[in-house]
Amino acid sequence: MDLVIKNGTIVTATETYRADIGIQGESIALIGHDLEGNETIDAKGLYVMPGGIDPHTHMELPFMGTVSADDFRTGTIAAACGGTTTIIDFAIQRTGQTLRQALEIWQQRAGGKVCVDYGLHMAIGSIDNERIAEMEDMAEEGVPSFKIFLAYKGNYMVDDETLFRTLLRAKEIGGLVLVHAENGDVLNYLINKHVAEGRKEPIWHALSHPPEAEAEATHRAVVLAGMTEAPLYVVHMTCAGSLDALKVGREKGFRVFGETCPQYLMFTMDKYEEPNFEGAKFVMSPPLRPKGNPEALWKGLTNGDLQTVGTDHCPFNFVGQKDMGKDDFSMIPNGMPAVETRVPLIYHFGVNAGRFSINRFVELVSTEPARLFGLLPRKGTIVVGADADLLLWDPKKRFKLSQKNLHMNVDYSPYEDVTVEGYPAKVLQRGKVIVEDNQFVGKDGAGQFLKRDRFRL
Ligand code: URP
Ligand code: ZN
Ligand code: ZN
Repeated sequence: MDLVIKNGTIVTATETYRADIGIQGESIALIGHDLEGNETIDAKGLYVMPGGIDPHTHMELPFMGTVSADDFRTGTIAAACGGTTTIIDFAIQRTGQTLRQALEIWQQRAGGKVCVDYGLHMAIGSIDNERIAEMEDMAEEGVPSFKIFLAYKGNYMVDDETLFRTLLRAKEIGGLVLVHAENGDVLNYLINKHVAEGRKEPIWHALSHPPEAEAEATHRAVVLAGMTEAPLYVVHMTCAGSLDALKVGREKGFRVFGETCPQYLMFTMDKYEEPNFEGAKFVMSPPLRPKGNPEALWKGLTNGDLQTVGTDHCPFNFVGQKDMGKDDFSMIPNGMPAVETRVPLIYHFGVNAGRFSINRFVELVSTEPARLFGLLPRKGTIVVGADADLLLWDPKKRFKLSQKNLHMNVDYSPYEDVTVEGYPAKVLQRGKVIVEDNQFVGKDGAGQFLKRDRFRL
């Protein structure tokens, strides 16, 4: 063996047990006892888990007159330091572009810079017969998941015909459709009305994006998924109403899945009323919700109504980006830094808080994203033959999630005063240590593009 991880406790979505892991080249070659290798890492007192998989990031996204502050280099170094060894980002097709052109643009952005392994989803901006045909080409390229924005009118939003045709085609080719579920027409009306009538503080962002508009769009997408018999994955779910819509679909036997993000579990909408424009740090879509919703989401993660925790990582600096909307909430770029803090937050507030088991934690942050997005068993679990993407987790390590301790390229942390217990001691990607003591020690640009399998469930 090239490398043996000794004395650790292996944790997967289904098991917790003591064993050594033998790594040959980039893969797990042996799991057993008293293994010998050219090199060893002593994992005594540590959990050894599959590296985190974040199925929802936006590195270097051109959006709302600016570009998200992490590029594929800084964002993936941050991901690695927080225990995530795979991200799936979004290529976005703009009107007039082919899907292939959009894919090439995103591959150029990532290429040579990305420091963990990555996949891409394809967001559909406009549909015609040629684009429908191209969806098969994308699946062949390892991009079998297609995102539909039902919000951001005048920008990314598409109509229900586009959603419906994308679902129909996805069903035929083994694709999975992702949806940003908010009623963009309703949002647009409310945004314009509040701005025109002089209500321009950050709180009006939340009041322009009511939970009912999310629940309605979720319900609509779920019904269309049922009609077309296509699988559907609802991204960044925030509220009890949309969770109910998803549950109804699942009870009817539709293949519908839901993701939430740490920010919707950790915060409520009173953040928007913080003085000195601080609320802008939390402006994102959908917005933070009233009290009661985070607990409903935690419950959904515990009982299986929700399948994954992603991040929707889309950071903008407070100075120079968020302040573009100082006088008008509708100009605040939407999004938050999250890729580095997801795994520690879900461990601390999920496992340490007694909400679910450590196995369920692994399932939510790694195994289930791998399964839904065509990466299992290469990623997302610990079995012979899998990539040796391993998280050596110190359950006793206390860590303050302050901006100065984190690697994301953004001038604030939404969790400035939060200390978690449980943090990566080391992170390995394909058999190489890439993080040690909160420092990235991997090679710049060594992340590989992952051709993902088509949807099979
Ligand atoms: O506010 C958000 N979520 N920004 C990123 C784009 C999106 O909607 O996912
Ligand atoms: Zn979205
Ligand atoms: Zn997003």
